[in-house]
Amino acid sequence: MPKAVRYDEFGGIDVLRVGEVERPVPGDGQALVRVMAAGINPSEAVIRTGALAQMFPSTFPSGQGSDLAGVIEEVGAGVGGFAPGDEVIGFSNKRASQAELVLVEADDLTRKPDRVSWEVAGSLYVAGVTAWGAVHAVGPEKGETVVISGAAGGVGSLAVQLARRTGATVIGLASERNHAWLRSYDVIPVRYGEGVLDRIRAAAPGGVDAFIDTFGDGYVELALALGVATERIDTITDFVAAARYGVKTDGGTAAGPGAKVLAELAGLIADGHLEVPIASVYPLTQVREAYAELERRHTHGKIVLMP
Ligand SMILES: NC(=O)c1ccc[n+]([C@@H]2O[C@H](COP(=O)([O-])OP(=O)(O)OC[C@H]3O[C@@H](n4cnc5c(N)ncnc54)[C@H](OP(=O)(O)O)[C@@H]3O)[C@@H](O)[C@H]2O)c1
Repeated sequence: MPKAVRYDEFGGIDVLRVGEVERPVPGDGQALVRVMAAGINPSEAVIRTGALAQMFPSTFPSGQGSDLAGVIEEVGAGVGGFAPGDEVIGFSNKRASQAELVLVEADDLTRKPDRVSWEVAGSLYVAGVTAWGAVHAVGPEKGETVVISGAAGGVGSLAVQLARRTGATVIGLASERNHAWLRSYDVIPVRYGEGVLDRIRAAAPGGVDAFIDTFGDGYVELALALGVATERIDTITDFVAAARYGVKTDGGTAAGPGAKVLAELAGLIADGHLEVPIASVYPLTQVREAYAELERRHTHGKIVLMP
């Protein structure tokens, strides 16, 4: 029987287990994908604690995960564009991707270019479409300056590169050990913590035009203190501040059809225009270790499970 990540109650990392499940059967419009890689994301950890149970109800046993890449094993009726053996990138909206076999709507898949590794393909969806949505939300242009918090994290590491591609000057807030990586993408690194407002002002003598917050905890207020207009501030995580000040919260869903954006991002990666840094790779059986690393909140790029 195929294996999948499961948990039977809300809780900490220790509720996660890898269990045997029934082999899924694809229905109309669905493909059964043998997962080669499945990225992990902070929101999954928050949902698992039960803190968002009102907004995202759970039934138990619960599966976990959205990001995936793999090889199509079977297709259901009405699936025209894909066949068994195709290598694909996609996502599950059913919290199911951290498994050996997963059912995916064929509309939520795109082909994996040969030059995109399994690790990168499998961790592209959530961080990639969110970064895409956030950068489009604030619309940086050549001659402007955009600041991005959490600049070396899963979403931030992609957002800084996508923002830089617009021609804008990009300032990335990160710990010093990530500054060399940011500089290598022509991003101006600035250390966060006490005095960050003055350090940003010094790095942006002409002022700051746009701000993308991927960390929360006061960065919306910092953006307002820098004089950024509310419609040019996007936070993907501080919804309380967003409601208070009327700034944007565009992320993944604002990016439009996921498979279309995934195809665009995969093309950029295949052509060498976008890098997804891979922080760590774990086998599915080490799902607890993978989330323990993620929950330290200092990941550079993505952590990925490889069933
Ligand atoms: N709304 C949506 O659609 C959506 C989608 C995806 C994610 N999210 C949310 O967005 C957030 C980021 O996700 P992610 O996957 O990018 O997370 P992640 O990869 O875990 O982000 C880790 C980053 O946070 C940085 N960080 C740690 N402490 C910080 C501080 N005090 N100030 C500034 N940065 C700090 C770290 O920087 P250093 O290592 O440099 O210290 C690291 O680069 C999460 O809250 C997630 O739930 C929302």
